[in-house]
Amino acid sequence: MVLPVDRWYEALHDRHAWRSYRDIPVEAEKLYRLREVCAELSGPGARVNISHENIEGVFRGFIASYGQVTGAPAYAAFIGDMRDPNVYEKVGYAGEGVILEAVALGLSTCWVGMTFHSGGVAENMKIDDHEKVLAISPIGYRTEEPTLDDRIMRVLSRHHKREPLDKLCSGLKEQACPLWAKDALEAAQLAPSAANRQPWRFLLADDSITITVDRYRDTHGISRRLDCGVAMMHVELGARHAGVKGRWEYLKAPDVARFNIDS
Ligand SMILES: Cc1cc2nc3c(=O)[nH]c(=O)nc-3n(C[C@H](O)[C@H](O)[C@H](O)COP(=O)(O)O)c2cc1C
Repeated sequence: MVLPVDRWYEALHDRHAWRSYRDIPVEAEKLYRLREVCAELSGPGARVNISHENIEGVFRGFIASYGQVTGAPAYAAFIGDMRDPNVYEKVGYAGEGVILEAVALGLSTCWVGMTFHSGGVAENMKIDDHEKVLAISPIGYRTEEPTLDDRIMRVLSRHHKREPLDKLCSGLKEQACPLWAKDALEAAQLAPSAANRQPWRFLLADDSITITVDRYRDTHGISRRLDCGVAMMHVELGARHAGVKGRWEYLKAPDVARFNIDS
């Protein structure tokens, strides 16, 4: 897909996880546009589906009992083909594209990897045996103020706090850091991650940024590589916004992927 760079670069600055929604539907044309983006970003290893059916069945159970996500009129399901060695990165990347398009359309979202009912998702979209719903996101119009539960989640996950770049990066020294890499890393810093754990680490070279994870053991039952896939979308948007082109190369664990800029 040719990424709508300016539109999504702006959206990545506006995006915040939001868990309480107004009880109004998302317009058909916005759902149509989101489905177009889903189709364009879906490919081998990852796909994203939008649904406005069976919301109760998806946000039922654990979420409902904690009241974390309320009132969403639609949701996106982020589905991985578990036979693909890079499934988590691919789902994170594709999913964040759909999230940013939703934000650009004036909607709110929240990646939810822990507390959703995957059986409920399977009731209204076909999930093959080799596939797994890795996460979902509510999609809709946010309430004016966050609910008490949302505020608690925000405090627990220190949701606006981000690690400083010098902790996240190694490689080039700051004064030698090219503008494209600076913009890419600052965009990556704003990426959402499960419990805001920010597991990504970046290795800078003259013509590439390599993403690795901070540790191998997963927490919260969510792969750190899924978060890294989300950050990949931000890195690419930052780099392209600064005027460079490039492409991703998937790497073997523990490395995740490398963005090589075109010479
Ligand atoms: C892969 C992934 C899984 C997440 N899972 C949950 C979840 O299960 N429940 C929840 O309330 N928030 C979840 N979040 C949202 C994060 O808590 C939130 O993005 C983070 O605290 C940063 O806040 P921000 O998105 O407002 O920048 C998840 C985020 C990501 C990227």
